[in-house]
Amino acid sequence: MTITTPAIRVEDLAKTFGETRAVRGVSFDVPEGTVLGLLGPNGAGKTTTVRMLSTLVRPDSGRALIHGYDVARQAREVRCLIGMTGQYAAVDEDISGWENLYLICRLLSMGRAQARASADAMLERFHLTEAGGRPAKGYSGGMRRRLDLAASLLGEPKVLFLDEPTTGLDPQSRNALWNEVRGLAANGTTVLLTTQYMEEAEALADAITVIDRGEVIASGTALELRERIGGPVLHVTPQLSGDLPAVRRALERAGLGPVGVDERDGLVRLPLDHEGRLITEAVRVLGACGLPIARLDTRVPSLDDVFLTLTAAPAAPQDGAAPVAPLTTAGRTGAETTRSAA
Ligand SMILES: Nc1ncnc2c1ncn2[C@@H]1O[C@H](COP(=O)(O)OP(=O)(O)OP(=O)(O)O)[C@@H](O)[C@H]1O
Ligand SMILES: [Mg+2]
Repeated sequence: MTITTPAIRVEDLAKTFGETRAVRGVSFDVPEGTVLGLLGPNGAGKTTTVRMLSTLVRPDSGRALIHGYDVARQAREVRCLIGMTGQYAAVDEDISGWENLYLICRLLSMGRAQARASADAMLERFHLTEAGGRPAKGYSGGMRRRLDLAASLLGEPKVLFLDEPTTGLDPQSRNALWNEVRGLAANGTTVLLTTQYMEEAEALADAITVIDRGEVIASGTALELRERIGGPVLHVTPQLSGDLPAVRRALERAGLGPVGVDERDGLVRLPLDHEGRLITEAVRVLGACGLPIARLDTRVPSLDDVFLTLTAAPAAPQDGAAPVAPLTTAGRTGAETTRSAA
């Protein structure tokens, strides 16, 4: 029997700064060669978690293992395995992009010739060859980010931490970075990226862990998170907007409710059961009542709805009650409500 050790194992990790409990007992695993999206709003504890995992901050309690090495007790071994791109690009401004990369190669004990070749290759890979000779202080935000990521890849890390890698990037640079992350994962690198954007987590991550106020409040694939918040919703648009109240009454009387009326868009919404039987039933009921339908749409709550709903849930009590429980009660319509309130 083979037991596979996850590339990253986090067990009940906690960190307090003064009065601030930045991370309060976070646990998750990241299997090798996969991408985990650590999603959370400002101040959720993302950077603190990443800094603990990359040996920059010592955990107060709990433990974290990178390929089996403990970040607190075996920091040196961990550092040989990881690469890290911080939330704020850490490039030396006074020297050129090429020199930044060359220096890191030398720090990694490469010989001069190999260091030169690696610096050249990285500049090319990140489309920085032309700018490579200029001082980094003249680089745009996107160029700095690319240089920073290039620097973190020089040591060919098995595990890469990216803290909000695309914040502040234009869509083109963001897509380029996404492709780079996908390529790394396809080649077996394990990636933990933090983000405030559900869209980014869905685009890149095999699994998502949502944290808020230092605690894990949900985890799963993007699809699972969507399903947790609410199944699809059926929008029924009658031909005559004056029929809206009658449509609602007819559907509710047939037991298909609760039905929400959206006067502004001239439609009613009803939570859809998973088999979709409800669609046929709704059409039959409205036909029998002589209420003509202009449109039927099934809608999935957007991932932003999911994220907003999750993080809008009241903080979980600290007595160990399941943190996920209140989310279910936020319910199907919670996502929709958040959306329309936005
Ligand atoms: N070195 C520190 N000293 C004091 N408080 C800190 C320190 N680092 C983080 N904190 C606090 O810990 C909490 C979590 O911060 P952290 O930077 O981990 O959040 P984050 O999820 O990365 O947020 P953001 O999305 O804004 O980057 C915040 O309340 C923050 O003010
Ligand atoms: Mg942060």
